[in-house]
Amino acid sequence: MSRKRVAVLISGRGSNMAALIEAAKDKSYPAEIVLVLSNKADAGGLITARDSGIATEVVDHASFGKDRAAFDAAMQKVLEAHRIDIVCLAGFMRLLSPGFVGLWQNRMLNIHPALLPAFKGLDTHKRALEAGAKTHGATVHFVVPEMDAGPIIMQGAVAVRDDDTEKSLAARVLAVEHRIYPEALRLVAEHRVRVVDGRCLINGAPVPDAETLMAQS
Ligand code: GAR
Repeated sequence: MSRKRVAVLISGRGSNMAALIEAAKDKSYPAEIVLVLSNKADAGGLITARDSGIATEVVDHASFGKDRAAFDAAMQKVLEAHRIDIVCLAGFMRLLSPGFVGLWQNRMLNIHPALLPAFKGLDTHKRALEAGAKTHGATVHFVVPEMDAGPIIMQGAVAVRDDDTEKSLAARVLAVEHRIYPEALRLVAEHRVRVVDGRCLINGAPVPDAETLMAQS
């Protein structure tokens, strides 16, 4: 089976992008990262991508003003030019139009730094600490028009410590993100994820129980 052609969309430092690039260096990995696309010309991740020999493109949202559909259409043109099969949002901080999301149904993934459906939106680590959550983590999910929603492909959990700060918690969750994003992309690229009634059913994956997940984090 040929490897899936993946575009990673970023807005910033791109550490999740780097984790995906690293995983895809293995020729037996079922996906290859062929494009990194940013909505910001100064995104740090673009340098990492270029250093790895990966094509980069910038579609600057600012030049489209409030015309979200035109911005999305410009991105779609770039994705088509690179014959992309799967899109991975990795710290891509723009809302996407329903039309664009529909074009990529069950082929566009996002990573969010919380155990969805808890703590959608920004400042997830701060809010988890304030809420006194004992377990926190990260989620990879398919993108739907509603922000930070969509069928959950994979989650990874960490135990929240009494002395955690936003920074220490973020660092542990980020390590989990770097582990689960490549795993989740592998499942999708291998066609092992089926969406039924808004839930992802995973073919052939032993689903670890919560204690195993905690032990791994
Ligand atoms: C990651 O923690 C990612 O989960 C988060 O932005 C960070 C990007 O870091 N995404 C969101 O909050 C999306 N709702 P990175 O650029 O180093 O991958």
